[in-house]
Amino acid sequence: MPVSVEACYTVKPMEPTKCGRVALSEWDQVGTITHVPVIYFYRLSQNLDLSPNYTIASNLKDSLSRVLVPFYHLAGRLHWISNGRLELDCNAMGVQFFEAQSSSTLEDLGDFSPSSEYQYLFPEVDYTLPIHELPLVLIQLTKFKCGGISICTSMSHAVVDGQSAFHFNYEWARLARGETLQTVPFFEPKVLRAGEPPSVPLTECHVHMEFEDPPLLLGQTNNSEERKKKTTVAILKLSKFQVETLRKTANESWHKPSNGRAYTRYESVTGHVWRSACKARGHKEKQLTAVGISVDSRGRMEPPLPKEYFGNASLYVVGFSLAGDLMSKPLGYASSRVREAIERVNDEYVRSGIEFLKNQEDLSSFQDLHEFGSEIGPFGGNPNLGVVSWLTLPIHGVDFGWGKELYMGPGTHMSPGTHASDGESFLLPGPDGDGSLVLALCLQVVHMDAFKKHFYEDIE
Ligand code: COA
Repeated sequence: MPVSVEACYTVKPMEPTKCGRVALSEWDQVGTITHVPVIYFYRLSQNLDLSPNYTIASNLKDSLSRVLVPFYHLAGRLHWISNGRLELDCNAMGVQFFEAQSSSTLEDLGDFSPSSEYQYLFPEVDYTLPIHELPLVLIQLTKFKCGGISICTSMSHAVVDGQSAFHFNYEWARLARGETLQTVPFFEPKVLRAGEPPSVPLTECHVHMEFEDPPLLLGQTNNSEERKKKTTVAILKLSKFQVETLRKTANESWHKPSNGRAYTRYESVTGHVWRSACKARGHKEKQLTAVGISVDSRGRMEPPLPKEYFGNASLYVVGFSLAGDLMSKPLGYASSRVREAIERVNDEYVRSGIEFLKNQEDLSSFQDLHEFGSEIGPFGGNPNLGVVSWLTLPIHGVDFGWGKELYMGPGTHMSPGTHASDGESFLLPGPDGDGSLVLALCLQVVHMDAFKKHFYEDIE
């Protein structure tokens, strides 16, 4: 897809904002600390009633500058301090806004299936620069020949989790369409920082398996060979009927849910994805495999954190099983392993995790530094999987004043071989609110066809 970047602007908060260095929470500094792109496509109606002075780019930049006042921390820069630890400098340096033009039309993109062409629609992040020179947010507006547009926001995961990133997009769109801010972000990373003395002393009860090395393929002593294998991405749809069938199967099986609460859509579908991956990867019965689950701790803390807590309040927990058990036992077994991992997350678990990280001399080995050119960091690939839920996040209906998006997608999973790594996946609600779901998945090329077969054929 021919795309030319025509202009690049730095957009700063419209008014003076709070300045100074802020200590990030422990959760901000582990896992993915690079930028995560999300893209929205819009078909602009011919009947759009816009004032003569209105241009899309200037409206977006103006509203961006205004939304950066309450979201001032996104206009700052990260700094390495020592031992793999980061600090945020709220210095109003601003975010980067690219304006680009494509000679393609939205129709050329078909049904928005993954394609390497999408990478031209994402703002490029130059990871060769020192981290304190990298904007935390980069945005690319691309105008297509047909009049349609795409808006890609790429945000540093060291300062936002999914909930906060979509909160920002939602509020930016509100200001762009002339409305007022709905919810002010609650930016207090200290509420998720370790206390002195420790608020939760570390005991053997607090086993944080998510900080251990992930299982390896039987017979291997490290994952360096697996890391090198070529991956691809797929966007796989499940109709409401298929989702309900999976949920019914999970709940009907002999492995009844604990405390009588029926398995949710997430637990049912994730169990099915995990089993399908084991089959597709051809695991032996005794292969240990892990599924990583991102759990939003906001509502699980005591007292709960406000929904608008801004930063990383989601943490990754891990469920384990032998592949043989997953493949031979009913679906409810896989769902029970997922639930068990989720249920571990309560106030005490979150605080002991923070304490654990605080006590680490160096955080580098807990960070995904792949984009910075390092081999260091966790790798969830074969024989493991990660299924991140966006099912309850406000991902759809981001209206900048010209109506709801035609399509939205996780940028990491729209372009093969660029951002996602083996086993990484997202579960999204279908765009029409009809109860369908979408799985955006990255797997090794050699496993993808078999995965699709099991994923669809094994729904009873
Ligand atoms: N709006 C609508 N429905 C909601 C909701 C909300 N805000 N919150 C929960 N629900 C629904 C769920 O959809 C589910 O119903 P379903 O089975 O019909 O889908 C039910 O209430 C129970 O939800 P929950 O307790 O959240 O369990 P779950 O199994 O659906 O999800 C987690 C488990 C761990 C994935 C989820 O609790 C969570 O933390 N999600 C956020 C993940 C996240 O942070 N993602 C971004 C990472 S960067």
